[in-house]
Amino acid sequence: MPRLSLGANRIYGEAAFEVLAKAQALEKQGKTVLHFEIGEPDMETPNHIVEAGVRAIHENKTHYEPSLGLMELRNAVVDEVEATRGFRPQVDQVVITPGLKPGIFFSMLAVIDPGDEVIFPDPGYPTYGSVTAMVGARPVPVPLLEENQFRMNPDDVRKRVTDRTKVIIINSPQNPTGSVMTEEELKEIHDIAKDQDIYVISDEVYSKMTYNGSLAPSISVHDRAKERCILLDGFSKCYVMTGWRLGYMVVPVVMAERLRDYLVSAVSCTASFTQWAGVEALTGDQTFIAGMMDRFTQKRDRIAAGLNQVPGITCQLPQGAFYAFANIRGTGMTSQECSEFILNECRIATVPGTAFGQAGEGYLRFSYATSLDIIDQAVDTLQTAFQNRLNTRC
Ligand SMILES: Cc1ncc(COP(=O)(O)O)c(C=O)c1O
Repeated sequence: MPRLSLGANRIYGEAAFEVLAKAQALEKQGKTVLHFEIGEPDMETPNHIVEAGVRAIHENKTHYEPSLGLMELRNAVVDEVEATRGFRPQVDQVVITPGLKPGIFFSMLAVIDPGDEVIFPDPGYPTYGSVTAMVGARPVPVPLLEENQFRMNPDDVRKRVTDRTKVIIINSPQNPTGSVMTEEELKEIHDIAKDQDIYVISDEVYSKMTYNGSLAPSISVHDRAKERCILLDGFSKCYVMTGWRLGYMVVPVVMAERLRDYLVSAVSCTASFTQWAGVEALTGDQTFIAGMMDRFTQKRDRIAAGLNQVPGITCQLPQGAFYAFANIRGTGMTSQECSEFILNECRIATVPGTAFGQAGEGYLRFSYATSLDIIDQAVDTLQTAFQNRLNTRC
C-alpha cells in the first residue's frame, strides 16, 4: 500500500469513543453498563426545534446554501452574540459550521503553520492537540491545576509564550474539568495575546451551562472578534442538538473570507434544514435551558458528594458543563488502570484523565449527563468496590 501522508499519521482520535466501544462490547455480552463516558445531555432536542427542522424539510429547504451559512441564521447569531456577550458583530464576521468541531479544525488550519506553537489546556479537549499535531505545529500544553480549580492560569500561559506562539486556545466552561475562567483571567490572557500579536481561539460550547445562573465570561469582548479572538459556540450541548451538527464562529472579516473557501472545499455548506432548526433554537423559547441546568445542578451535587465518599477518590464541585473530574490518586492506580478497573469490576464507563493530556494523570472524567438513579447506583457500587479493595489490601 502507498504511504499515507504525515498528517494522516499524526492526527488522533478521542478516547471517550474508545471507552464507549468497550462498554458496548460488554453490553453485547449481556452485561449492564452505567455510562459516564460520553459528553451529551441526556435529553431529547426540544420539540419546537425539532418541528422547525422537520418543517424546513417539508418545505424543501433541502438544497445547497451559501457556504458561510443562511443569512437568517447568521443574523440570528449577531443578535445572540449581542445578547450573550454584549457586543454586536458584523454579520460578515459570522460563519456557520456543521458542529462546533469544524470551527476548531478550520480556524486552526487558518492560523497555524508547521513549526508554529499552539498553547492549549491540559487536560483539554483532544481535538486541539490532534489538529496541532496534524499540521506539524508544536503543542504547548498548559497544565490546569486542581489547586487553581482547574482554571488556566495567565502566568502559566505567559511563561510558555515564545516568538513562535501563534495561538492560545481557551475553553471555558471547560471539558473535562468543568472549570470556568474569571473575567480578570481572560482579560490577562487577552493582554498577553495582544502584546505578542497572537490569535486566541475561544471554545465556548458550554457558555450557557454554568451553575451560578450567569453566562460564562467570553474573552472575545476585548476585541469584539475583530482582530485576534475567534469565538466558537454551538448548539450541540445547550440546545441538545449533537446529531444535528451545527455551530457558529465569530471571526475577523478577512478570516471569514478564507474560512468560506475551507468550507466550500470541505463541506460546501452546513445542512440547510439543520440551520432552520438553529434559527428556531436561538430565537424561540429558551426556558428549557434553565430547567435543564436545575436538573444538572442536582446531578452535579449528588455525584460530587457521592464520589467524595469513595475511599481514595475526591472530587471538586464543577462550575460549568456536566463533567466531574475526580482525583483518584488515593486509589494507588493510574488513570488508565482505575478506568479499566471500574469498567471491568463495577461496569461503570468513565474516561481516564490522560485521554485529555498528561496533566490528566491521577483523574477520571465522569460525564453526569445521566439520571439521578444511575448516579446513585454508580456511587453505591464504587463505594462498595473501593471499600472492599481497601479491606483486602489491609
Ligand atoms: C470543548 C468541546 N468543544 C467542542 C465540542 C464539539 O462540539 P460539536 O458537537 O458541536 O462539534 C465538544 C463536545 O464534546 C467539547 O466538549
